[in-house]
Order: sequence, then C-alpha cells, then structure tokens
Amino acid sequence: MQVTEVNHPLIQHKLGLMREADISTKRFRELAHEVSSLVTYEATKDFEMEQVTIEGWNGPIEVKKIKGKKVTVVPILRAGLGMMDAVLEHMPSAKVSVVGIYRDEETLEPVPYFEKLVANIEERIAMVVDPMLATGGSMISTLDLLKSRGCKHIKVLVLVAAPEGIKALEQAHPDVELYAAAIDDCLNEKGYILPGLGDAGDKIFGTK
Ligand code: PRP
Ligand code: URA
Repeated sequence: MQVTEVNHPLIQHKLGLMREADISTKRFRELAHEVSSLVTYEATKDFEMEQVTIEGWNGPIEVKKIKGKKVTVVPILRAGLGMMDAVLEHMPSAKVSVVGIYRDEETLEPVPYFEKLVANIEERIAMVVDPMLATGGSMISTLDLLKSRGCKHIKVLVLVAAPEGIKALEQAHPDVELYAAAIDDCLNEKGYILPGLGDAGDKIFGTK
C-alpha cells in the first residue's frame, strides 16, 4: 500500500492547533477543512493531464487540464462530512457517494447503517474521506463495499492515522493509496488514537 504522510509545516501547525483540548467546534471545523484541503492537494498530484488548445490573449496556445473529471468523493458518516467540502472545493463537479458507518464503542467493530453510491462508481476514482483511521475497521468495511460495487481506483484521505489502522488497511487492501496529515503513535485501550484529536465526529458536530 502506498502510504503518504503529508509532512508540511502548514499541516503540522494546524494539526497542533486541533489537538488543543478546549478547542471550539467552530475552530476545529475550520481547521479540519483547511488541513483536508492541503491533503487533497497532495492526494491529487498524480492526476493525469492532457494538453488542449485554447484561444489565449495573443492567439491560440496550448494549456494543460486534468484529463477527465471522473471522481467520486466518499465521506464516511458522520465525521467524514467535515472533510468533504474541502475536496469538493478543488473538484466542484465530483459526485458524492455517502457511506454511513459507526464504530461500536464496546467491540470497536464497524456497524454499517447507510449507503448511497453513485451509479457508475466503477468508472470513477473514489476519494474516501474520514478524519480518523484508528483500528481501520470502518475504512476496511467501506473499501469492501466500494470494491464490491466495482471500484478499482481508491484514494483514502485521513487527518490522523494510527499505525495499527495502517497495518490492518495494508493487509486488507494493499492496492489503495493512503494520505494522512499525520501518523500518530498508537491506540489506547479504548481504541482512541494517541496523541490524536479525541472524538473527531463529536468535535466537528459539537455533540458532547
Ligand atoms: C470514527 C471515525 C472513523 C472511525 C475510526 O467514527 O470518524 O469513522 O471512528 O475508527 P476505526 O478505524 O477504529 O474504525 P465514529 O464511529 O466515532 O462515528 P461518527 O463519525 O459518527 O462520530
Ligand atoms: N474515532 C475518533 O473519532 N477518534 C479516535 O481517536 C478513534 C476513533
């Protein structure tokens, strides 16, 4: 599996701010958006380009444009919604495929409860967004679903990944690409990432 920790001063600075215990919902949401935008920049750097001729100010010129626009953004409810708009800002024509999964707090097993995927998903690059890759269960379950519907090219974008989750994802789906703003230290006994962000969904939605 291709794993990229997007090591950039802007990302590290903003993630540092997000780790503050008493951060407000507003600020956490804003920073999640900003970091997601920077991760998107990195995750799209291999997009295929084509040369086209346009009418420039001084006559016809060759410019580059992204070849095709076949992307579906896949937010994993709920917390993935906090990253979705940042991806869509860069790719406003992308379609959205929503997957609802929560993690059982006792067993840490993923519990799927919703899916609405675009019809021609097998023709698209899926950019799956979820701020936290902890045990990896929720992401693996999402990718199982996407592949069962024919998805072949999958990019996973997260804010914080735990080594345990990366290992599990690598074993289950070695063919995908993972982009993380940070790879943290470990999981605690309750399956939370350390140092991590705490409960990202609660912080984005203000539910706590
Ligand atoms: C969080 C997070 C991931 C999942 C990660 O969601 O957003 O989806 O946990 O944990 P895992 O890698 O161990 O599966 P949560 O279950 O808290 O749901 P929410 O997004 O609705 O808050
Ligand atoms: N889900 C979260 O929101 N945070 C974690 O640290 C682990 C799972």
